[in-house]
Amino acid sequence: MTSDVRTLEWTGDGLRLLDQTVLPGRVEYVAAHDVGTLVDAIRRLVVRGAPALGVAGAFGVAIAVRQAEREGWDDAARDAAIARIREARPTAVNLAAGVDRVLPFAGKGADAVAAEAQALLDEDVRGNRAIGVHGASWILGRAGDRPLRVLTHCNAGALATAGWGTALGVVRELHRRGRVEIVYADETRPLLQGARLTAWELDRAGIPCVVQADGAAPSTILRGLADVAVIGADRIAANGDTANKIGSVGVALACHAAGIPFVVAAPWSTVDPALPDGGGIPIEERPAEEVLTWGGTRTAPDRVDAYNPAFDVTPARLVTALVTETGVLEVSAGSTPGGVRG
Ligand code: MRU
Repeated sequence: MTSDVRTLEWTGDGLRLLDQTVLPGRVEYVAAHDVGTLVDAIRRLVVRGAPALGVAGAFGVAIAVRQAEREGWDDAARDAAIARIREARPTAVNLAAGVDRVLPFAGKGADAVAAEAQALLDEDVRGNRAIGVHGASWILGRAGDRPLRVLTHCNAGALATAGWGTALGVVRELHRRGRVEIVYADETRPLLQGARLTAWELDRAGIPCVVQADGAAPSTILRGLADVAVIGADRIAANGDTANKIGSVGVALACHAAGIPFVVAAPWSTVDPALPDGGGIPIEERPAEEVLTWGGTRTAPDRVDAYNPAFDVTPARLVTALVTETGVLEVSAGSTPGGVRG
């Protein structure tokens, strides 16, 4: 995070995770000293957001190495535990990439793994700052003089990263330059990352925001109430097709119809060059209860099941710009991440 609260922190023998399932009501932490606790925290979204998952996965390898030493596991047991972390959630490529980055250090012990994971964490914060500057400059280069009305979906902020944020990093930088009138934060059904987390972050940063129902977003855009949409990403294919939280593609379609930019802000670590297009991106399906219940009470009829994909894929032709730590690619105009690797 940017102030007193940290999304995730290595404590020397494990991870201290800000419990994002209970925000904004309570600020609590989960201590993960073993693989089972970490995998459970990733699946329950205690820690979430593509870059934060990458860092958690990298430190997770250090947890596995330490647990293997402590409990006398053989290499096969250790590797199976690392695979459980790597596969705890499928869509954000950062999780597997974070694990893979530190794997070469596993033979040198937990401290060596943790040092490399810390380097990844530090790079993420630096990268987010750069994304913020590039994104704000690109947006302002196309805007008039008045403050902007920005729409965002899900949470791509400090909570979703090691600090500062990707999409919200752009918003923070626009605000620093005195150019944010209002942020429309989509509530982001079913787990409310927008209403609970984005609104919490923006409020703490003193950035004016309102929470709107996901279903309001296309209308807000078509009525001319937003100047730009800025979102994050969980995995970006080589052609620029972008997976992000379910509901993102509706925002993109509305931006296209209204003729306003749909901007994706993400580090290069979210680009998966092995995938030519978004058809190969694995989409996580989450438990039915997330949409069939509200506050623990069943809302849908007992015999009705749910379809609960956590992500969707926005086609590259609807992505106006991809903002990375190295600059901006104008994707719908033909500049794709597979063509220019930062
Ligand atoms: O299911 P979540 O909360 O992990 O989904 C997070 C998102 O969709 C974010 O927008 C994405 O990971 C980008 S975070 C910088």
